[in-house]
Amino acid sequence: MDLLLLEKVLIGLFSAIVVAAVVSKLRGKKFKLPPGPIPIPIFGNWLQVGDDLNHRNLTEYAKRFGDIFLLRMGQRNLAVVSSPDLAKEVLHTQGVEFGSRTRNVVFDIFTGKGQDMVFTVYGEHWRKMRRIMTVPFFTNKVVQQYHQGWEAEAAAVVDDVKKMPESATTGIVLRRRLQLMMYNNMYRIMFDRRFESEEDPLFVKLKALNGERSRLAQSFEYNYGDFIPILRPFLRGYLKLCQQVKERRLQLFKDYFVDERKKLVSTKQGDNGLKCAIDHMLEAQQKGEINEDNVLYIVENINVAAIETTLWSIEWGIAELVNHPEIQSKLRHELDTVLGPGVQITEPDTTKLPYLQAVIKETLRLRMAIPLLVPHMNLHDAKLGGFDIPAESKILVNAWWLANNPEHWKKPEEFRPERFLEEEAKVEANGNDFRYLPFGVGRRSCPGIILALPILGITIGRLVQNFELLPPPGQSKIDTSEKGGQFSLHILKHSTIVLKPRSF
Ligand code: HEM
Repeated sequence: MDLLLLEKVLIGLFSAIVVAAVVSKLRGKKFKLPPGPIPIPIFGNWLQVGDDLNHRNLTEYAKRFGDIFLLRMGQRNLAVVSSPDLAKEVLHTQGVEFGSRTRNVVFDIFTGKGQDMVFTVYGEHWRKMRRIMTVPFFTNKVVQQYHQGWEAEAAAVVDDVKKMPESATTGIVLRRRLQLMMYNNMYRIMFDRRFESEEDPLFVKLKALNGERSRLAQSFEYNYGDFIPILRPFLRGYLKLCQQVKERRLQLFKDYFVDERKKLVSTKQGDNGLKCAIDHMLEAQQKGEINEDNVLYIVENINVAAIETTLWSIEWGIAELVNHPEIQSKLRHELDTVLGPGVQITEPDTTKLPYLQAVIKETLRLRMAIPLLVPHMNLHDAKLGGFDIPAESKILVNAWWLANNPEHWKKPEEFRPERFLEEEAKVEANGNDFRYLPFGVGRRSCPGIILALPILGITIGRLVQNFELLPPPGQSKIDTSEKGGQFSLHILKHSTIVLKPRSF
């Protein structure tokens, strides 16, 4: 007990010295820092601002302090950018300077201090990882190779829903089945594998561990220990749990997927001429470009970056269509007239369906899955908007506010896909307009956009073609309350939805 107290006192003293040193360094350098609430020693702005740094709260601060403001969260600097011009500066003009990532005590555990791709600093390792991942994941060839698989997965969802009698009456939690579909879409690419049903024990285990990883990483509850080192001993239990989840997860990826694939390939059963992503990564490992841990961290990244984000976006899209029956009918009409009633949408069709594209864009605008992008960071002291940004600051681009600010958009609070066919017809999801960055733009932008957009089109298209999507009996709308995390945004409640099959 005494030892623990002594440790806390020592850590406290050490932190106070570090903070004093940092403050004097900042003062010594005569930094012109961006505006923001006045910080107090040790805690900075944490006591005023609290833990919940979600996109809406940060928008309120932007209204008070301007398009760039600085929060001092304990020992960490957090600069928040809220205008298209400054977003351009961070992501494009000074893309190298701001192209690194911050991590925190929890992400350090889940990424092995940046041995992955998503959370590594901008440099050699990131370039190598991005190059190795490009061929197996991020080219048009991958779309050509896998789109029939995604269509088969969406068809299986339609079949399974039709087999559930309650889906047409009291309704089902559609998300559960869509989650299986998204795992299958990505596990086909990664390992040439799929899971038969939601009850598959391996799927259940995987889903639980990934869910726990996301909950632990996205939660705000560990902020205090990250911001204020003096408090870190209180986080010991939390960090231990993170470590356990991380180890169990990587072991699961290794034992059940990576090693299984190696066995299959060595017995030549897997040699059907088509390489899956893991084969490319193991080849890179054999060449000595990356190590076994890097391979597992790539699998880790895809499990989170690809599956959850796309699933959340599908879920948001369905929720908006249920709550806007007139938009749903208009979309169904487009599918029926362009493709013919009952002719099932495939990937090449998605380009012929402008209203479907507009529905997807509008979903990604209003319900941005990563509303603050993945945090960026400057390795060295930098300048932004006429202010100094101290080295290693966390830079958040409030992409949600850029796409929902009434100064830039007509009635942004309305779910109105027509805007992307009318006044915003030139705006694409690939970042051709700095007001609309659902996938970011520039060096650290989302390479998965090439897969995400067709998967969204196929899935939403097939559901609307085959069913009338309605709220459960007795409800006129489904609840679209949001749940924000460190940088994520998903629907709070996985709603029950009624799916009435259409007859053709
Ligand atoms: C609707 C679905 C998706 C959305 C909304 C989304 C959004 C994003 C955003 C906002 C970023 C950060 C950009 C930045 O920090 O500037 C990102 C990064 C990333 N995404 Fe996605 N993403 C989606 C799907 C996918 C998919 C399907 C994959 C993989 C197959 C993927 C892989 C990645 C990777 C690897 C990064 C990190 C890039 C880097 O740090 O260099 N994402 N994504």
